[in-house]
Amino acid sequence: KRVAVFISGGGSNMVSLADACAAPDFPAEIVAVISDKPTAGGLAKAQGRGISTFVFERKDFAGKAEHEAAILAALADIRPDIICLAGYMRIISGDFIRVYEGRMLNIHPSLLPLFPGLHTHQRAINAGMKIAGCTVHFVTEGMDEGPIVAQAVVPLMADDTSETLASRVLTVEHKLYPLALRMLSEGKVRMEDGKAAFADLA
Ligand code: GRF
Repeated sequence: KRVAVFISGGGSNMVSLADACAAPDFPAEIVAVISDKPTAGGLAKAQGRGISTFVFERKDFAGKAEHEAAILAALADIRPDIICLAGYMRIISGDFIRVYEGRMLNIHPSLLPLFPGLHTHQRAINAGMKIAGCTVHFVTEGMDEGPIVAQAVVPLMADDTSETLASRVLTVEHKLYPLALRMLSEGKVRMEDGKAAFADLA
């Protein structure tokens, strides 16, 4: 399967996906990395891996619709089967999502439906949670609310700060996302009637 990864920052999740895809038996390859930030650190990491990169800076476009139209036009040439949002810090419109619904994943650093949105680690600490984690889900029009594909849990320690917790969660994100991408690439999960349907895992 051809995969396009969207990033806005360091791209550590993109790197873990790229490293997983490099295995000969992995059923997907990253064919493009797309960013809305020319300064995204992940761009150099992608280029260092021979992956094509594309930047679409929001300020270069009259509006959100024009920005998304430019990205969709590039995707028409790239022809991804799957899109993975990985630290992509922009809300994608329903029109855009509809083009790829059921083929677009996102990773969110909380155990959804708890803590959608930002500052998830501090909110988990503030809530006195004893566990935290991350979620890979299908992207739907609402933010961070699409059908869940996979989740991973980490303990929340008494002396955790948002930084120490973020670091522990990021470590499991890097394992979870490749697992979820493999599941989607192999047809082990698909989106059906707005829900995640899992193939018989026997
Ligand atoms: C991570 O917390 C990830 O969960 C979220 O964006 C943050 C940075 O990810 N999606 P990355 O290092 O840019 O992949």
